[in-house]
Amino acid sequence: MSNIVITGAGKGLGKAISERFGKEGSNFYLCSRTQSDLDSLESELMKLNSNNKVTKIICDISTASGVDFIFNTISEITDRVDLLINNAGVFLPGEISDPDCNNLEQQMNTNFWSAYRLTRLLLPAMKSSRTGTIINMCSIASLDAYPGGSHYCISKFALYGFSKCLRQELIPYNIRVISVLPGATWSNSWSGVELPEERLMKAEDVAEVIYTAYSLSNNAVMEEVILRPQLGDL
Ligand SMILES: NC(=O)c1ccc[n+]([C@@H]2O[C@H](COP(=O)([O-])OP(=O)(O)OC[C@H]3O[C@@H](n4cnc5c(N)ncnc54)[C@H](OP(=O)(O)O)[C@@H]3O)[C@@H](O)[C@H]2O)c1
Repeated sequence: MSNIVITGAGKGLGKAISERFGKEGSNFYLCSRTQSDLDSLESELMKLNSNNKVTKIICDISTASGVDFIFNTISEITDRVDLLINNAGVFLPGEISDPDCNNLEQQMNTNFWSAYRLTRLLLPAMKSSRTGTIINMCSIASLDAYPGGSHYCISKFALYGFSKCLRQELIPYNIRVISVLPGATWSNSWSGVELPEERLMKAEDVAEVIYTAYSLSNNAVMEEVILRPQLGDL
């Protein structure tokens, strides 16, 4: 069974990805700040496949100590990570030119530094075993800036840059690095937005693509995945 680490697993895309992998049976290391989300996800995963094993890691991934806690928890159980999905993230609106908007640091910490720190901690074991897959949840906002979302875009450009550099660095170690760049997808972050259901993608569709990317043979890597709502970006 694969050892799978998923950050931001409690809701939205992270939950859908966990459930997709849960159909097959895996050892999960699931992170978020909300215990109740991970408790109900664990019940769901056990219903999907009784071979699933879940380690719930409650922490704030935006801090270095939170990331250390994730690494230490995993390390007490295993030194083998087959799949790391750096998914945790937050969207906060805001513009560079607004003097009252100070949310860049929070988004950099959650959307970029968490992935950078956790990957660096897990990499030595992955490199020495010369195996593994790392998936970074970037965004269409990693490709194009848009008004009202500047600080989010900066953090997602950073994550995408990190992911592209990592891909090059890890080729000699047989570790696959995949950048996933979804457009608007129904999740907690869109709650309260009044749009027809078909206007946004389903989290299950993004999860299915990630599952397929992981399932390819080690001879192939789905380097970059761009997914958009069929009706275009919002
Ligand atoms: N939905 C979209 O349209 C869309 C499009 C492109 C990319 N993305 C990216 O996809 C990823 C998931 O987004 P989503 O829409 O599924 O968001 P979501 O529904 O809000 O879920 C985010 C998850 O991350 C966790 N999280 C957030 N901040 C955290 C922190 N400081 N420490 C630990 N866990 C934290 C949340 O749990 P707690 O709050 O309980 O900690 C939650 O489980 C993000 O990186 C997002 O930028 C989303």
